[in-house]
Amino acid sequence: MTTIPVIELTDVTKIYPLPSGDVLALDHLSLRIDSGEFVAIMGPSGSGKSTLLNQIGGLDVPTTGTLKITGKNIRKMSDTDLTNLRLNAIGYIFQKFNLIPLLSAYENVEYPYILKHRCNDSTGRVSRLLEDVGIDRRMAKHKPAELSGGQQQRVAIARALVNDPAILLCDEPTGNLDTKTGGQIMDMLTDLHQQGRTVIIVTHDPHVGEQAERVIRIKDGRVEEA
Ligand SMILES: Nc1ncnc2c1ncn2[C@@H]1O[C@H](COP(=O)(O)OP(=O)(O)OP(=O)(O)O)[C@@H](O)[C@H]1O
Ligand SMILES: [Mg+2]
Repeated sequence: MTTIPVIELTDVTKIYPLPSGDVLALDHLSLRIDSGEFVAIMGPSGSGKSTLLNQIGGLDVPTTGTLKITGKNIRKMSDTDLTNLRLNAIGYIFQKFNLIPLLSAYENVEYPYILKHRCNDSTGRVSRLLEDVGIDRRMAKHKPAELSGGQQQRVAIARALVNDPAILLCDEPTGNLDTKTGGQIMDMLTDLHQQGRTVIIVTHDPHVGEQAERVIRIKDGRVEEA
């Protein structure tokens, strides 16, 4: 039986048109990631890692080539379908946390829940997730600026999990953290993988890369063959 890959890129290019000339950020890149994999994407600065993750997350569309997420060609999806896919199937953890500054930690985690369910969380899910990532009730009332980097990243992880996504995308999730806090975040991501999620991490850090099952190396917008 052949399984449908969770992510499949075929001959994908991404060009950023700039006044000074086009930037070819992804150069005829093909790859597939299967359900339940734990993959690290590594490569030098500017090699196209974030661009690739944005495509995988459906935040941006390829200039040419085909991208399928859970078997669906994103070019053939309506805006509503794509929004729903992002809301239901994908959790995104950004390098710089990207929490909403005016909302408390609790409200930040609840926000995607409200977008999906069109109501506040009365099930206790938001509180449970915050507890799971080590944010207590008192801290949950704090705004992001009143939390440390590690605490903000924990909140960002809880937010990424609130709609129970099958795919977790993480762009340098430990990049702004000290070694110990970074290690705790990695332990959390490893647990989430063991629970059956597909986890894709962009990282510069060889120690982080070692914890993944597979490393995809990117250079100049292409996959480097091992
Ligand atoms: N919005 C944009 N507009 C124009 N060029 C861009 C844009 N985003 C990225 N680029 C360019 O595309 C290339 C790939 O950038 P990308 O951010 O994907 O690299 P990266 O591998 O994530 O780098 P880093 O490790 O520094 O985060 C770079 O040359 C970058 O300058
Ligand atoms: Mg990047």
